[in-house]
Amino acid sequence: QIKRRADYMPPAFAISTVDLHITLHPTETRVFSSLRIKRQGSHQDALVLDGDNLPVNKTSIDGIELSRKSDNSPGYVLDESSLTIPVESDEFTLEIETTIAPSRNKALEGLYLSGGAYCTQCEAEGFRRITFFMDRPDVLSVYTVTVVGDTSFPMLLSNGNPIDKGQLTNGQHFVKWHDPHPKPCYLFALVAGDFDMLSDTFTTASGKEVALELYVDKGKQGQGTFALESLKRAMKWDEEVFGLEYDLDIYMIVAVDFFNMGAMENKGLNVFNSKFVLADQNTATDDDFFNVEAVIAHEYFHNWTGNRVTCRDWFQLSLKEGLTVFRDQQFSADMTSELSNRIKHVRVMREHQFAEDASAMSHPIRPDEVIEMNNFYTVTVYDKGAEVIRMFHTLLGPDGFRKGMDEYFKRHDGQAVTCDDFVSAMQSATSLDLSQFARWYSQSGTPIISVKQSKLDDGKHTITLSQHTPATSEQSEKHPLYMPIKMEVMDEDGVQYTDNEAIINDGMVILDKESVSFTIDAPNKTLTPVVLGNFSAPAKVNNELPTTSLLTIFKYGKDAFNRWDAMQSIYNRCISELERAPGEAIDNDIWAGIREAIVREQDNVELLGECLVIPSFETLCQSRTSINVQTLSAARKAFCSQFAQHLESSLLDVFNSIESAPYAYNQNAVNQRRCKNVVLAHLARLPQHESLVIKQFEQADNMTDTLGALRCAQFCQRDTFDSLMAKFEQKWSNDPLVLDKWFALHATQASKDIFATITMLCEHPQFTMSNPNRVRSVIGSFAFYNSEMFHALDGSGYKFVTDYLLKLDTLNPQVAARIVTPLTQWQGFAVEHQTLMKEQLGRLLNHKGLSKDVFEKVSKSLAYG
Ligand code: ARG
Ligand code: ZN
Repeated sequence: QIKRRADYMPPAFAISTVDLHITLHPTETRVFSSLRIKRQGSHQDALVLDGDNLPVNKTSIDGIELSRKSDNSPGYVLDESSLTIPVESDEFTLEIETTIAPSRNKALEGLYLSGGAYCTQCEAEGFRRITFFMDRPDVLSVYTVTVVGDTSFPMLLSNGNPIDKGQLTNGQHFVKWHDPHPKPCYLFALVAGDFDMLSDTFTTASGKEVALELYVDKGKQGQGTFALESLKRAMKWDEEVFGLEYDLDIYMIVAVDFFNMGAMENKGLNVFNSKFVLADQNTATDDDFFNVEAVIAHEYFHNWTGNRVTCRDWFQLSLKEGLTVFRDQQFSADMTSELSNRIKHVRVMREHQFAEDASAMSHPIRPDEVIEMNNFYTVTVYDKGAEVIRMFHTLLGPDGFRKGMDEYFKRHDGQAVTCDDFVSAMQSATSLDLSQFARWYSQSGTPIISVKQSKLDDGKHTITLSQHTPATSEQSEKHPLYMPIKMEVMDEDGVQYTDNEAIINDGMVILDKESVSFTIDAPNKTLTPVVLGNFSAPAKVNNELPTTSLLTIFKYGKDAFNRWDAMQSIYNRCISELERAPGEAIDNDIWAGIREAIVREQDNVELLGECLVIPSFETLCQSRTSINVQTLSAARKAFCSQFAQHLESSLLDVFNSIESAPYAYNQNAVNQRRCKNVVLAHLARLPQHESLVIKQFEQADNMTDTLGALRCAQFCQRDTFDSLMAKFEQKWSNDPLVLDKWFALHATQASKDIFATITMLCEHPQFTMSNPNRVRSVIGSFAFYNSEMFHALDGSGYKFVTDYLLKLDTLNPQVAARIVTPLTQWQGFAVEHQTLMKEQLGRLLNHKGLSKDVFEKVSKSLAYG
């Protein structure tokens, strides 16, 4: 069952052209395919095609029909996962007809019918659920696709350009598509339905006009404009920053309600989760707008990093995903703000990626072993992968990086390649030796950087940085990594220093050994080194600086990110103190320091807003072991309430200084709303300010402030929360995407009747287990973010999620395997939790018919530690 990267073999056959003729029907879709195939190299092997539980209606080679092998005749061999065809010729045409049932496809992989439309999802290995094929990314073919459907499905879409269409007799019609760019089958797509369409055009830098079409559910046209505008911005940006232009005459995006992931970059025909397309002031928050623009850009950028240059095998997934995430992050930073982007992405790393490294699912950004590929669309492959690309960018500089990218496309356009190929293109653009750096692709785990400082008699200070990567579940031996460490060194008055040996070069130290030391002359000074500025490498820092130094960083740091980070460390430290000594009062100096910070940053609402966010429970977990959830959440809550009490008047000043303006989505306005809502959340913990929450809820002219107020209301009296929640539900009862926010907020309440609430949510008219967005907002939110109730010490949270997963797994294993994650990450928790979590994992493992998706994660989890 396990597939290994080391076992890669080039394909035995090439498929140059694929002709598909697909006649849609809910339970009997007929898929006819005609493949032009050529043997690769000299061998006499049979042709083996992937096919996931597909029947063979009919098959022929060069027009000669084949039959199934039997005792007395040769022929093809069919089993539940493959079709083996003995062939003598070296070049031939293979025709196969099969039948599938899209309406019974609840796994949402392959071709499925949901919400009244047909659509496909083929990455990673869904094409084999549609027809027989060599379902691997290194088989590239030119596709011609004829889609036949009922006229009640007026839009019949596939990749490339439409080349023919017409009416058929029996109430059916057809459209024929041709995609001139050879592509792997995971980029194939088909959509059929009745949509509203928004259209526009984009003229490329070289003057070609591209038709842009965005398809949304009927009646949702108004919610599509922002996505379409985002697409144009992304197209322009990729031309300006990377010199990359679009390469077909038409670019289509379809928004669907039932989708396992965010979106999919099928050539010329992206399919999107509607959550990442639909947005307007009334229904979408600022975060939603941000995500729409980021995901639209991500999928567009894939056209070059993913489609024109694709992956040789799925172990190389980060080749396209890490790179494309990095590209979309750079785009978002240019469209919005560098600081808030960086903070957003670092939060993801600290909350989720570090947790993955510490779990049984740890893997390098280029994994070595996989059971179910869908389990490896992870924060490690995507987000840590993007951090590795970011380090190339840091080391080579923007110009060097661009040079490397140009070389990458020059060498590999039209090919299926490996991460090593990418590294070698980058190597060609720099005089640095990248061979040790490449270890980031093969070594898993979170490196920990420690900083030691000693004062010598002659006024010199020695600073030593060292690195250590703890063993991970699948890899015990670790070696030093090559890390760019951005640094600032300052004294108590904020004067910045550099070292005598110039090891700090332009604010950066290269840490490529176990440790590196340097000396600084600063007689009679206390030095504060800031390491890993701007999170310049995906690592943890063992931070032993005294709180006064952290306040110094906040006060004098040059880099805004570092200042934010210093504040986060202070909060983390205070929470630790309250864990150790509940009921203790936090030192007054700290409140004074924060108060001063608030006054000084009054005009810098972007930084101020972020600095007033207390680290999430999930982030706190990453700097702790043997976590007792109840103690830690009590400490976090106690800190929040002291925070509100001690800083009340400063917070009120900030709140009152931000004027509400009519809604607009631009960075300035976003920063203001963000800051105001962060402050309101603190004030909401004080009963005297409940009225502010209610007022904002009643008066808001946009979803950001409405939802902001609703979230604050969870800290008010229960009655207030309940009544605002009821109003919200009533208003949005017909808009499931908006209701998802309400589902999620309910599911994360630490209330005693949480299971009654969740049961009520699951019975809600808008809820259905077959829609992944609904399941994620109710069950996913509970498992990932309701830490107190999920980790309840009577085991009820773990059991509840397990019961649900057992049902969900039979419908949609991919989504079930995502939601099982928190249960599998038991290693960091106290033994009481561990025992209960493992008990439920055991139930899953013993379940007959468990999917291999869930099996892989559960079995690994139980085997580790
Ligand atoms: N390539 C898509 C994206 O990043 C994600 C597809 C994930 N599919 C899956 N089966 N896990 O944009
Ligand atoms: Zn992607």
